[in-house]
Amino acid sequence: MCSRDPASNQLIDFKNNDSEAPKECTTSSGAPIGVKDAIQTVGPRGPALLQDFHFLDEMMSFDRERIPERVAYAKGAGAFGYFECTHDITKFCAASIFDKVKKRTAIAMRFSVACGENGSADTVREQRGFSLKFYTDDGIWDIVGCNMPVYYLRDPSLFPSLIHAQKRNPQTHLRDPDMFWDFMTLRPETLHALVIYFSDRGTPDGYRHMHGYGVHTYRMVNASGETQYVKFHFKTDQGIKNLDSRRCEELMSHDPDYSIRDLYNSIKKGNYPSWSMYIQVMLNEEAKKCRFNPFDATKVWPQKDYPLIPVGKIILDRNPTNYFTEIEQLAFSPAHMVPGIEASPDKMLQGRLFSYGDTQRHRLGGNYMQIPVNCPYRVNVRNFQRDGPMTVTDNQNGAPNYFPNSFCGPKESSRALALQTCCPLTGDVYRFMSGDTEDNFSQVTDFWTYTLDNCGRKRLIRNLSDHLTEASQFLQERAVKLFTMVHSDFGRLMTEALNTARISKF
Ligand code: HEM
Repeated sequence: MCSRDPASNQLIDFKNNDSEAPKECTTSSGAPIGVKDAIQTVGPRGPALLQDFHFLDEMMSFDRERIPERVAYAKGAGAFGYFECTHDITKFCAASIFDKVKKRTAIAMRFSVACGENGSADTVREQRGFSLKFYTDDGIWDIVGCNMPVYYLRDPSLFPSLIHAQKRNPQTHLRDPDMFWDFMTLRPETLHALVIYFSDRGTPDGYRHMHGYGVHTYRMVNASGETQYVKFHFKTDQGIKNLDSRRCEELMSHDPDYSIRDLYNSIKKGNYPSWSMYIQVMLNEEAKKCRFNPFDATKVWPQKDYPLIPVGKIILDRNPTNYFTEIEQLAFSPAHMVPGIEASPDKMLQGRLFSYGDTQRHRLGGNYMQIPVNCPYRVNVRNFQRDGPMTVTDNQNGAPNYFPNSFCGPKESSRALALQTCCPLTGDVYRFMSGDTEDNFSQVTDFWTYTLDNCGRKRLIRNLSDHLTEASQFLQERAVKLFTMVHSDFGRLMTEALNTARISKF
């Protein structure tokens, strides 16, 4: 960590840029304060008086400073910038942000670490979050993705268990390799995400040097009402860079906020990070015949069958002016979509459509969409929702608060109606278990065989065995069985690595 990098100079910059003499401090009700460093007491040795509003005002505010951290992806960094459409994809999508090549749309972004708490180190082996908010002229569109092209599960009912198994043991309050490996090995659909997690990609060098993926399948609708399925990809223009385990450990002790610092400094120095956005498209007919379930978040769509189609660029050129206001209060949700973009049947995505708004009402309050960084400021929100705690807008003044009405209240949008698809659905209502009914192995075998080279395979084995060796023997054996089903070499090499680790422990 360099002591005089832009992040370290923040206060000096503030002082230098604020040329006026310091302004007077006030209470929260705006009254000037004469003495800031003494409580009001009876005599110089106390006791204190209840009438001392200056003191009580400060304490009451301090006592309420913390809001709940995000239940997952709590530690993060964010910035602002724009999306520029560079290629015409109107034949696939009528969303207004793709209207014209060169059109720019303001964005907010937040990067994060999946399971550590707000104070945890940035360089631990973890999945990284990659969240994007587009302030479009049709309202907010959020893509809440990550740095891996797949996710661990395909059924949202297991998401709380996935997160619990990776967070702290309820008794010891420690992160627990038994919990981790027990859950993962009981659910073999986690294998694909797991091998990526334990590969080089599990420890990216800051947030600028990793790709981002929307992971889920979405549906795009064009101006003629035709639909197709898509996946979103964001390729880092900085190039992929990962940290080796020694460097990760060094940074954990010397600069646990390495990724936040790197992003802040890079933007402050005018070295604006950018990502190129692509889509993969699958036609409805192709989806029906696809050899795997295209709505399964544990699967990639092979790029030789579904090539990347360029769309645009995202560029980050502004740091937050206040972290809490602009980043901690950011609320992304996969349910925030705009005309032209819809959800697919992907069960994980369907589960997420509910969860984010629900947790944000708890984390930030019922009117969290009025917080400036969340509000769709490019449009006027006109609806029939009113009141609630902390209403800080004009609350839509005297406009009718019921629908339908005869008094010029907001009416339905013919454009949104034209872009709304009508899709037939039939099927039995049931809880369809998906753990073993889908193929959990073929794409993992491809990753082992074709994506990794020899050195990559060796590093994967080392990273896996370093972690797995901390788990109980029966969990190690269960994991090795699964790795053997991916590839016999994988199982054999893992057994050898675990034996070596066992010997070196004694
Ligand atoms: C059923 C599946 C899932 C559920 C129920 C779920 C739920 C949640 C919840 C409750 C939060 C906290 C949000 C907040 O406090 O603002 C969160 C954050 C997040 N989730 Fe998920 N999640 C799921 C799957 C996924 C998947 C598949 C991805 C990646 C592709 C993902 C990426 C993220 C990210 C990046 C954040 C942090 C958002 C931010 O930067 O504010 N989640 N998730």
